[in-house]
Amino acid sequence: MPTLALPDGGAWPALGLGTWRLGEDPAQQATETAALRLAFEIGYRLVDTAEMYGDGGAERVLGLALAQAQRAGLAREALTIVSKAYPQHASVDGLHKACEASLRRLGIDQIDLYLLHWRGGVALQQTIDGFEALQRRGWIRRWGVSNFDVGDLRDLADLPGGAACCANQVYYSLSERGVEHAVLPWQRQRAMPLMAYCPIDQGSLANHPALRAVAGHHGVAPAQVALAWVMSRPGVMAIPKAVRAEHLRQNWAAARLVLDDTDLGHLDRVFPPPLRSQPLAMR
Ligand SMILES: NC(=O)c1ccc[n+]([C@@H]2O[C@H](COP(=O)([O-])OP(=O)(O)OC[C@H]3O[C@@H](n4cnc5c(N)ncnc54)[C@H](OP(=O)(O)O)[C@@H]3O)[C@@H](O)[C@H]2O)c1
Repeated sequence: MPTLALPDGGAWPALGLGTWRLGEDPAQQATETAALRLAFEIGYRLVDTAEMYGDGGAERVLGLALAQAQRAGLAREALTIVSKAYPQHASVDGLHKACEASLRRLGIDQIDLYLLHWRGGVALQQTIDGFEALQRRGWIRRWGVSNFDVGDLRDLADLPGGAACCANQVYYSLSERGVEHAVLPWQRQRAMPLMAYCPIDQGSLANHPALRAVAGHHGVAPAQVALAWVMSRPGVMAIPKAVRAEHLRQNWAAARLVLDDTDLGHLDRVFPPPLRSQPLAMR
């Protein structure tokens, strides 16, 4: 699996696994835990979750799968666990409580990357102070943000401690390329990875005719083209969510798919890059 270098010398895999919609239905718990276990067997080493998903349910399911995988020999250090705090929990005290609860649900001692889910009413300096306090306690390794437009990123970087932000997780797919105008160039200049969420546009790109045409040339599935395109962008990593075994395997294999200039030109014509600034898209 290709990796993305971090400014502090670390590295993350270019492909991770999303967990939105997991943990919402107790009847699905066994299926979802098994899907996460399979993902670890396939090779996925970065998992993205949030206190919001299933009201803590996604973290609980991930916690179960992590415990099982570790009992089966998977080393905790081999994994990068990403979680997110609600904006209303982004004060120093709020982050302390939210992180403590996430760690309990996940059954781990440290979150590798802790994100502010989106910018809310709490002053960013308080959030930075809260993240730094969690780092001092050892509860989080790195911190970052999500759904930050370029103005938000500038505001953050101007504050004491703000330059330590390690990632911005945003909506980015072939059908949603707005971040290419300002957010992605800003992050590239600072070697701050962009984590692309909804890289298959919640499944809809898996049926797009333009992707089917490119996929046909390579003998792969359209969703793999969508993912290979996201991963071909310098400084970008993708975190598709999948529960079905076939999807987990296809998405993993997409990291090996190389799109040529003809493919990229065709995709640019069907999904043109943004010509001007536009508000950040969110899901
Ligand atoms: N920070 C934020 O505000 C934010 C917002 C949205 C999402 N996220 C994160 O990003 C992750 C990914 O986004 P997402 O889950 O919204 O959308 P997504 O990853 O673009 O799409 C997920 C959907 O695509 C299906 N799928 C996966 N692989 C496929 C394949 N190879 N062929 C056909 N269909 C496939 C999945 O089905 P099955 O599950 O049935 O396999 C699921 O229905 C989330 O899970 C979450 O962790 C973050």
